[in-house]
Amino acid sequence: MNTRCVPAGLMLMLLPVIAHSQQHTPMHHERMNAEAVTAPMSDERQWVKVPEALRAHMLANMRDHLKTLNRLHGLLGSGRFEEAADLAEQRLGLQSLQLHGASRIGPYMPKRMAEIGTGMHKAASRFALAARDAAVNGNVSAALSALADVTAQCVACHDGYRVQ
Ligand code: HEC
Repeated sequence: MNTRCVPAGLMLMLLPVIAHSQQHTPMHHERMNAEAVTAPMSDERQWVKVPEALRAHMLANMRDHLKTLNRLHGLLGSGRFEEAADLAEQRLGLQSLQLHGASRIGPYMPKRMAEIGTGMHKAASRFALAARDAAVNGNVSAALSALADVTAQCVACHDGYRVQ
């Protein structure tokens, strides 16, 4: 229950109700956990061996990718298409390869994994073009589906590989 806007007097009257509703929260979580446990847990992702320093670097890149996606959604939502295009190109697109040290990590990747990585950078550059178009013609759906092509590459790689 959202109790932020409730006046103090009413809050006192509501306390038993709130306590009651909160009593149920743990049960709800237990139910969720039970579902998670019964869900298929098999993990067939391929292990990829990477030297520890590079692994840390790669995971830092990954967190940056997620941050970038979050910012892209925010920029699209507020109609700042040019900024979205610049950000995508610099942090995820083909221009970002050097920033992410792709040439150092690439050699450790199985061929298919590297292809997905390249696919992601290309998709991000295509998104940048679609975002620039949106700045001119207002076609936000085209930009959003181009962004979904980017996240499809994140999903494809995460489904297939893990690092150690
Ligand atoms: C070429 C493969 C590949 C692509 C493309 C890729 N990732 Fe990853 N990502 C990985 C791997 C491998 C891991 C480590 C998974 C593991 O070892 O369990 C990872 C881990 C992560 C993590 C966890 C980081 C941490 O600190 O543990 C985040 C967040 C993440 N990726 C976000 C993204 C996002 C967002 C995208 C797309 C914009 C993306 N990744 C694209 C391969 C990829």
